[in-house]
Formats: sequence, structure tokens, C-alpha cells
Amino acid sequence: MLRNEHLADDPAADVSQADPAFLADVLDGLSQRKKAIPARWFYDRRGSELFEEITQLPEYYPTRTESGLLAAHSADVGRIAGKGRAVVEFGSGSSLKTPRLLSSVAPSFYVPIDISGDFLRDSAAALAESFPGLPVLPVEANFMHPVQLPAEIADVPKLGFFPGSTIGNLVPRSGVNLLRDMIETMGVGSMLLIGMDQVKDTAILIRAYDDQAGVTAAFNLNLLERINRELSGDIPLDAFKHRAIWNDTWSRIEMHLAATRDVSFMIAGRHFEMGADETIHTENSHKYTPRSGRQLLAAGGWTPLREWSDDKQMFSLILAEAKPEPTAP
Ligand code: AVJ
Repeated sequence: MLRNEHLADDPAADVSQADPAFLADVLDGLSQRKKAIPARWFYDRRGSELFEEITQLPEYYPTRTESGLLAAHSADVGRIAGKGRAVVEFGSGSSLKTPRLLSSVAPSFYVPIDISGDFLRDSAAALAESFPGLPVLPVEANFMHPVQLPAEIADVPKLGFFPGSTIGNLVPRSGVNLLRDMIETMGVGSMLLIGMDQVKDTAILIRAYDDQAGVTAAFNLNLLERINRELSGDIPLDAFKHRAIWNDTWSRIEMHLAATRDVSFMIAGRHFEMGADETIHTENSHKYTPRSGRQLLAAGGWTPLREWSDDKQMFSLILAEAKPEPTAP
């Protein structure tokens, strides 16, 4: 009998309840010469909780810096963008950032887009409560592709909101695709308020992704627990360590799960082997300079209008506009 036929009957290898996209990403990613799993799979319930904890860590400066920038400058955003736009948030967070923006821009609609319906409904309900009279129109969709927005806002000018330097999780090619898809989604003439984390002293960056309390390590290792639980895996967690490195060539922090010894394990009935010190690449977090940030936006079709940064230039907020494509030069 073929090995796989036998395994298909093995209850320990049953993945019939698993998310097929998760299964495919993990099996494909671990079959490559350089093992890698897309960062979006971090965010199961536990992963989302751990990320919330990360945002409170003393070493993790991005969240509080961006919140401070919004508190200080969202009135400016309101003046430049003008009142009555529909605010379209890409990846609706459960954060304090959105209320700050909504208070300042007097939006006509709030349209949170998220792939996770549960998360979306919770955060949409919470916001609707704080902003009585503001129509909230949640859209359950993958914003990494063009999204069909509700018909009610077809003729309303739009302000996209993409905080957290989430753009940094994408390699430039995917980031540009996303920025162009945002224009497809919202239309020419739209504006976008985007957060971009800045290049800075390497030690500060490494500490932000390898904190003393070990919360980021737990966040990274939770991916292995999720694989074991959801994809019938038996990965020994004690054979892996969290590693955060600065890749200067690509101007990014990389997170890896590094094998501490030779290790073999099963996932969904398939066998994998790793040598000591071999890694699974789990996340990129690109960091920008003011110029490289503007270049990325321009490549995606967005013209920067205004930029705000803190006095140590740790993090930037950029307001950009999707202008009609220039015919010259
Ligand atoms: C998802 C972009 C907000 O890259 O900083 C935090 C995720 N990973 N610590 C980032 C993350 C490790 C985070 N963002």
C-alpha cells in the first residue's frame, strides 16, 4: 500500500477541518529550499492576543509613536482631505487609532475591510457605539486584492487608512501591487493615510522584535503550535528558537524560527526534516527612509501630499493622493 493512502486513514493526520489555504501555505513553504511561511498566519486568536501585548511592550515603539502622531496631526489630515469623505480602513484593527482619525475628519461613512469576519464585526460594533450617527459598512474581504466597496459610497470621495506599517510586511513587489489595488478599490482622486516605520539604529530595531519579556518569541513560536493543532503536526517546540535579524540589503527586520538541533516532524501526514540552525522565515518588516517611502508610494500610483514624523524620526505618517496618471514627462 502507498504510504499516503495509509496516512489518509490515519486519524492523527486528519486535516479535513483545516483551512485549505493555511495547509497549502505551510506544506509549500516548508518544501522550499529556504523554508518560509507567510506572516498572515500568525493571527489566530492567541496570535492576535500576543500581538496586542507586543504593542504595549516598552521596546515596541511603533504603535505608541503612530498613535501620538495621529493625536497630534489628524486635525491637519482633516483640513487637507476636507470633510465628508468615506474612511476606508484596510485591515480593521481593534486599536485606538481609528477613533482618533474619525474624530478629526468628520467622515460620511466608515468602511472597515478585514478578511476575518469575527474580528470585523466586533471592531465595527465597538466603533458604531462610539460614533452614533456614523454609518459603518463593514466589508469582509481580502484587501490584498481589489475590493468591491458598498454601492452607497460609489460617489463619495474616499480616504484610505492603512496604519501600523503593515505595508512593511510585504516585499516591494507585493507592496506596490497592494497600493495599486487600493486605487482600483477606492478610485482616482482618493487619498490614503499610511503609517511607515523608519530605518534607525539596528539595536533599537532588534530590541523591538526580540523583547526582554519574550512576548515576540511567544508570538513567533505560536505559529508552530497553531500548525500542530490545526494541521495535525507534531513539531517539537523545544527544538526551535525565535530569531530576529536585520537584513541591510533589503532594509528589513526578519523573524525566523531556528532549529536548535537536527529535527524531524510530521504535518498532515507529511514528513519534514531540518538541520541544526536551519530556519523557517516567518516575517519581513521593511523599514523606510523618507525617500524610499515616497518611492514606494509613487511606484504604487500615490503622490505624497504631507508627511509627519516624531522628533526622533522613528515612524512616519504620510498622506498621499491618487492623482490621474500623468501623460508627461
Ligand atoms: C503587523 C506590521 C504591525 O511588523 O512590526 C510585531 C507585526 N511582528 N512584532 C510589525 C510584528 C513582530 C508588525 N505589524
